Amino acid sequence: RLDRSTDGMVNYNANSAMQQQSIVTHANAIRALAERIEPSGDDIRIVDLGCGPGTSTLLAMRPAVETLIARFPQATIHVGHADVPTNDWNALSAIIFGPDGYATMSDKLRVEAYLGSFYATMPPVGSVDIAMCFAASHWLSRDPGFVAPGTIFFADLQGDKRQKMDALAQADWTQFLNSRAGELRPGGLLYVSTLGAIPDPDEINGVCSSARYLYRAIQVVAQSMADDGLIDQDALDRFIFPLWFLTAEEARRAIEASPTLSEAFEIETIEVVPAELTQSDLFIGLRDDPKAYGEAYSGYVRGFGESSLLKYLFNDAAHETHSARDLVDIFFERYARLNEENVGTYKFETWYLNVQLRRT
Ligand SMILES: C[S@@+](CC[C@H](N)C(=O)[O-])C[C@H]1O[C@@H](n2cnc3c(N)ncnc32)[C@H](O)[C@@H]1O
Repeated sequence: RLDRSTDGMVNYNANSAMQQQSIVTHANAIRALAERIEPSGDDIRIVDLGCGPGTSTLLAMRPAVETLIARFPQATIHVGHADVPTNDWNALSAIIFGPDGYATMSDKLRVEAYLGSFYATMPPVGSVDIAMCFAASHWLSRDPGFVAPGTIFFADLQGDKRQKMDALAQADWTQFLNSRAGELRPGGLLYVSTLGAIPDPDEINGVCSSARYLYRAIQVVAQSMADDGLIDQDALDRFIFPLWFLTAEEARRAIEASPTLSEAFEIETIEVVPAELTQSDLFIGLRDDPKAYGEAYSGYVRGFGESSLLKYLFNDAAHETHSARDLVDIFFERYARLNEENVGTYKFETWYLNVQLRRT
């Protein structure tokens, strides 16, 4: 097993419609950060953490970069993109320096790449004016590493396994914020947005998580493959997606429980809100066309989930007759069919966790 939860995400640009939509939704908030900051000198640094391979990070950066160029024509503006070493940096570079990229908007721009983990320091300490992180901070630092029969989804864990994963998620979120507290200049701003969860007394653990049915559908399909002898039941029982969608209360708790973080950050926003257009189902617009619904859904899940499924499940579970790659193909065919035949049953619900903090 590799260390990180999302090493080698594949075909991501093609399948990240939801992430891109959410970034457009937040574009005004990001521009507002660039309108507010008061840099301490002639160097300004803005960084996108967990930037991915291109399209989304360009959408996220553009409004802020335009604003910074207009506000500070004399300043050198460092635009940083931070992600794991296996990110597709060539794709990212082609987009940033391509015809729609921002790299040529001003000769005062310096494009930077930071390779590593956002659970450690990425840009230099005390150097960042604006840090943003979209659809990424829910990935935990590691596989929780326990056996959880019956579910691959954090929100459906119960008892001591839930407690263990909760503790890992809190420790990771705390570590993420500590790293940002180190990187940001006094007065610097941090904006984080990803999927979130809301209190719900009718749900397991009293919490309704974004994408709950998406993950339950993954469990259904993976179990069907174990039942058909395509993968080992043991391997499925060991598999859990290494992610956690925080509630607003959980996101706040990490800051309030840490004297260092409480001192380092002033909380401007911590909220979980429904997605504006597609809260009830990201694919609601395709419900009249079951085949398209199933395929779009499966393609989307493949975009963010294939590398984790390969690494944590199919590489372990492969038999002599089927390679791990074959198993992935079978999985996504079945995933498409399940949703085609049960349109709306596994609706993809979305709530966003938005966090905006100011470095004191
Ligand atoms: C779902 S993608 C989001 C990409 C982009 N921000 C967007 O909104 O479309 C998650 C990204 O987070 C990155 N990521 C996950 N864990 C990370 C870590 N510990 N450190 C840095 N990047 C990480 C992944 O490599 C991936 O590019």
